[in-house]
Amino acid sequence: MCGIVAYIGKKEAYPILIKGLQRLEYRGYDSSGVALLSNGSINVLKKKGKVSELSNFAADRPHDGTLGIAHTRWATHGAPDDINAHPHQSGDKTLALVHNGIIENYAPLKAALEQDGHVFISETDTEVLTHLIEEIKRRENLPIEEAVRLALTRVVGAYAIVVVDRDEPDKLVAARKGSPLVVGIGDDEYFMASDATPIIEHTKRVIYLNDEEIVMATRDGRLEIKSIENEVQTPFIHELDMQIEMMEKSGFDYFMLKEIYEQPKTIGDSMRGRLNAEEGWVKLGGLDEFTSRIAKAQRFIIAACGTSWHSGLIGEYLIEDLARIPVEVEYASELRYRNPIITDEDVVIAISQSGETADTLAALELAKEKGAMIYGIVNVVGSSIARITDAGSYIHAGPEIGVASTKAFTGQVTLLTMIALSLAQKRGTISDEYFRKLLKELGNIPAKVSKVLESNALIQYIAGEIKDRTNALYLGRGYNFPVALEGALKLKEISYIHAEGYPAAEMKHGPIALIDEEMPVIVIATNKSAYDKIVSNIQEVKARKGFVIAIVTEGDTVISKIADHTIEIPDTEEPLTPLLSVIPLQLLSYHIAVMRGCNVDQPRNLAKSVTVE
Ligand code: G6P
Repeated sequence: MCGIVAYIGKKEAYPILIKGLQRLEYRGYDSSGVALLSNGSINVLKKKGKVSELSNFAADRPHDGTLGIAHTRWATHGAPDDINAHPHQSGDKTLALVHNGIIENYAPLKAALEQDGHVFISETDTEVLTHLIEEIKRRENLPIEEAVRLALTRVVGAYAIVVVDRDEPDKLVAARKGSPLVVGIGDDEYFMASDATPIIEHTKRVIYLNDEEIVMATRDGRLEIKSIENEVQTPFIHELDMQIEMMEKSGFDYFMLKEIYEQPKTIGDSMRGRLNAEEGWVKLGGLDEFTSRIAKAQRFIIAACGTSWHSGLIGEYLIEDLARIPVEVEYASELRYRNPIITDEDVVIAISQSGETADTLAALELAKEKGAMIYGIVNVVGSSIARITDAGSYIHAGPEIGVASTKAFTGQVTLLTMIALSLAQKRGTISDEYFRKLLKELGNIPAKVSKVLESNALIQYIAGEIKDRTNALYLGRGYNFPVALEGALKLKEISYIHAEGYPAAEMKHGPIALIDEEMPVIVIATNKSAYDKIVSNIQEVKARKGFVIAIVTEGDTVISKIADHTIEIPDTEEPLTPLLSVIPLQLLSYHIAVMRGCNVDQPRNLAKSVTVE
């Protein structure tokens, strides 16, 4: 939540910052602002609403300066308005600061500062931190980086901050704990941002700041990193493997649609070099290193949130079905607070697109304390989860910018399939023939996803039939039950239609009461193992006049006679069907949202990266 970008160098900062904010807007979009240092004073411009509101506002106001900080906000403390927007300033206006995270002990800090005469104009925890730094700097007459360090020793909570000081106009100071911060190293210039997306068009050389580190960058090219205990740290410079096109819409109306269409490629990328069907092997570096630890595991616990939790559920079906290891799937937010039983014989798998979700991160820390081995399935390279796990695998889906996750989901499911296959082979729980068959079929999935995408026009037509409904029910069985949950979530997230996902057979225990001619029921009916049962479920819905859209296997002649609409997907092995059956559901929710005039990439109240509890 919240995106930060900052610049120090010889170029005009404003265009770099605005473009950077646009790239980070997926992290929050209720207000935004910039602070620019120019002619010995700090010029702050901020505005409620999207970054475009800020740039309109700034257009006819001065916005020059070669040093600046900027922020796009997802409100935690205080309403989303011009005053609560960042940057925040110190009482004497010498400092401006942007912050991503939450200062949990802001109330006692604020009370103490008020006693010392500080007056606050916003409701934010961030303004309190700004005043605290000002107070320490003034009282002890310290350079800004030292005042920041000492202030942070008094702070409880999570933060990524960047600070500018009017009295030290050639310095930018930043720090992190719990919220991400990346430093980009250009030629005679530095960038700081919540992730690499605003930096990539300027430089590929970055440093991922660690927790409780403070970085100072100067205009004459100095970069110094210290720990909060004041020890100098040696930075490790990474080369980014990202191209700028990955962050553009490339002719698509929305990032979400682009990302849906990227899936044949991204699923292929997640497998590249990791399996060979001819030779009959699947290799995941992270997993292989820990073979003996994993072999001893009594069970796997999968911890995740949102869409990643849904892919975790598919992981449970895959790992139990193929590798015969017991799996529990937990909402990370519940796991961390419910005094769970976790031992050093467990393997905890965290699934996260961003690698920054606060609850998932905290659940992992807890599991680590209890001695479990922790494994990460992550998209964003260098993210916090990727760095605290014992081992892990990236899904290599490239930047996912649409808030509703699509290609990350299929990347996660592909990786979980490879994990299940690798474990099944090592444990001898499936025959070599079936193993090779699944491996070969996994290799065919990207082409089959392309085939599903050819149904786009039909799906768009069906979307037109549902767009004005107020509720929807998604049903699936077995491997396709989590897909039903994911389909319902996609619809809720971007079109604001209330939707529920249910195991098809559970419909009888409640949701059936809701069915009438107004209720669209989307049924994933591709399972071979429970085909007759799902046909009966569809009959039950039709008997109550429900409006049925069924996802069926190519050539199905039975369901097409009962359902109002059918969308065909190519035949595949049952454990692999989620990778195909989810695609029409992604497209369906996309088209419905567009038809309802919703902002598909930035749905209301949501953020892509949830770094608060
Ligand atoms: C937010 C996003 C979802 C995402 C969830 C978990 O709610 O809007 O799309 O599934 O966080 O995020 P993660 O980055 O951990 O997968």
